[in-house]
Amino acid sequence: MMRCEPCLLAVCGSRSNEGINSVSNPPTSDAIEIRLTPTQKEHYFRRTGMILHSVSVPPAQLKRFSSVAAKAGSESLPVSRSAVRQLLEPEPSGERGGGPFVVEVVLTPRQKEQIGRATGHCFASLLMGPHDFPVTYHETWDDATPLRVGRTIVIKPAGKPHEASAADLVVELPVGDGSRRGVFGTGRHPTTRLALVLLEEHVRPGDRVLDLGTGSGILAVAAARLGAGEVLALDIEAAAVAVAQKTVSLNGLAGAVEVVRGGIESAAPPYEVVAANIFPNVLTELAPDLAATVRHGGVFVTSGSVAARAEEVIGAVCAAGFELEERRSQGEWVGMVFRRP
Ligand SMILES: C[S@@+](CC[C@H](N)C(=O)[O-])C[C@H]1O[C@@H](n2cnc3c(N)ncnc32)[C@H](O)[C@@H]1O
Repeated sequence: MMRCEPCLLAVCGSRSNEGINSVSNPPTSDAIEIRLTPTQKEHYFRRTGMILHSVSVPPAQLKRFSSVAAKAGSESLPVSRSAVRQLLEPEPSGERGGGPFVVEVVLTPRQKEQIGRATGHCFASLLMGPHDFPVTYHETWDDATPLRVGRTIVIKPAGKPHEASAADLVVELPVGDGSRRGVFGTGRHPTTRLALVLLEEHVRPGDRVLDLGTGSGILAVAAARLGAGEVLALDIEAAAVAVAQKTVSLNGLAGAVEVVRGGIESAAPPYEVVAANIFPNVLTELAPDLAATVRHGGVFVTSGSVAARAEEVIGAVCAAGFELEERRSQGEWVGMVFRRP
């Protein structure tokens, strides 16, 4: 088992590290824990978009995996099942959407010693499959100032003054009452901004729009402001649904945006536009279902991936029947538009 703590800014520093994070089961009491150095954390974040603080593996599993690796003559110790799979059946490089995506983290001399003691073998690096982690989403809310995103969208904390021009599409977000803890979607994270900009370019008046993983409801309300005729906002988290409902009523859009707790199975296809600012781990699994929700000729907009994992997402989404139409970056994050032919 590996452990990722939901700590964000304090350890990771930069704002772009905030937000999409993974957490796994707590380690068992006898688990061997390898704490990552700041350099290793940074490397892992750039490769996965996840913030990982330590790797925690039960001794029996560590020994089993180390024997497999030693037998295969590997200098890397796989510490997850998908990493073992990748070690035994490596995918030809450059192949889209192939085997499990794994990350190699080079060990420090101290960590080499720790692993040597625990396994009886000497390894230079760890191999980890980010797909073995459950994912959580966090964002720190800041009610200070309105934000402009794209050409026309303004994200405004409720009650804050903003001199809107006639062309501005204002999305008000609820402020201050503590109920937003753990809910993502302030408009400050690059993934949300990328999704907003891409929606601004692709939502047409009267469109049916699905916002899968609505968080605060920010994309759903923006889609309605952009002229969508009907928007369904889905989220599997109760806290997100409660905040999204507040956002929708704050914006006077209860007639246009429906918020429902649930996953893609709660959708009522077809939609002209489907948006999902969701992590690759989830997206790659959902790709076939996503294809079934988008009308032929419609688009799927997604933004929850770092550059190193974009190919993984492109592979899965294109294999499900989409064509990649556009790709944009903000920092390490990538936004993509896929069209269903
Ligand atoms: C990164 S946040 C995006 C929030 C908002 N849409 C934005 O762009 O800022 C991802 C959201 O997706 C939700 N989520 C994750 N997996 C999901 C799934 N399979 N179905 C529906 N929602 C999901 C999470 O609970 C979280 O609220």
